[in-house]
Amino acid sequence: MSPMHQNSTPPADLPAIWQALLGWFAASGRDLPWRHTRDPYRIMVSEIMLQQTQVDRVISKYHSFLAAFPTLEALAAAPTAEVIRAWAGLGYNRRAVNMQRAARVVLADHGGQFPRDLPALLALPGIGRYTAGAIACFAFEQDVGFIDTNIRRVLQRLFAEPTALPEAQLLALAESAVPPGQGWAWNQAIMELGALICIPAPACWRCPAQRWCRDYAARRAADELAFEAGAPTMPAAPPRARALAERRAAPYAGSSRFFRGRAIDTLRALPAGQSLGIAALGAALKDDFGAGDMPWLLALVDGLARDGLLERDGDAVRLP
Ligand code: ADE
Repeated sequence: MSPMHQNSTPPADLPAIWQALLGWFAASGRDLPWRHTRDPYRIMVSEIMLQQTQVDRVISKYHSFLAAFPTLEALAAAPTAEVIRAWAGLGYNRRAVNMQRAARVVLADHGGQFPRDLPALLALPGIGRYTAGAIACFAFEQDVGFIDTNIRRVLQRLFAEPTALPEAQLLALAESAVPPGQGWAWNQAIMELGALICIPAPACWRCPAQRWCRDYAARRAADELAFEAGAPTMPAAPPRARALAERRAAPYAGSSRFFRGRAIDTLRALPAGQSLGIAALGAALKDDFGAGDMPWLLALVDGLARDGLLERDGDAVRLP
């Protein structure tokens, strides 16, 4: 594919960047369990877990989830409540329900064989462009580009000018940067770089792509200017890093996501199959739960039921 935009063009020395990053990944990439498989079911499980959850926390969950549901068929056949229970500790429980829906569609509509092409993967419930690309690449070794937070940061810094590129341009950049025949290792490598070195406050002195990086060059130029001007302070964090840090600090306790998670945690703690009265759920969520909180609680319960995370039967709720 040809370069597509003047301020997001991979440089002419792309092959040298490929070589540097692929060599670095081969020597320094982490030994992660999902890098040992090409089973699309296992890749789906790992990629969905890794969205929003740190690698360290995912590793043990990946093993325990696959021990409970070793195959696509096992996941598809399980009661949804069991899948939600196995998801404990990972958060964003909707991912578990959607993943089971995807497994059921693969079984029902594709004879139990994962589709290989992006449009068919994208048509599966809960599978967005990132996950579809990751399955096509990490399971089927296709040369596709896709973006998550880490890949976005690496591509933006390495190839693009400082202004944040729109998503469509970044995706086009991700696609045009894949070395032919080496999509698997390349995408793992830039993900790894974004996880270990090209982090929000990057460790550029350890970066194998430092000498080609547009962002590093810009930082150095700014640094030298500041030094010449006698600036005594550290340069301010670039705006994107600041925005990310602020988003991370946004209040979680008391948010809708917080109470959704606590409600599912409460139902998980019950013996399998047992229901809980709605008022008792309210009391479990808020110490001072009162009649005035009932409309709020019912809206929360309805939302969870809509997402397939609980079942409501009159005044009682339980995992589906
Ligand atoms: N995050 C998402 N996918 C990943 C992968 N394959 N390796 C490491 N971190 C990841």
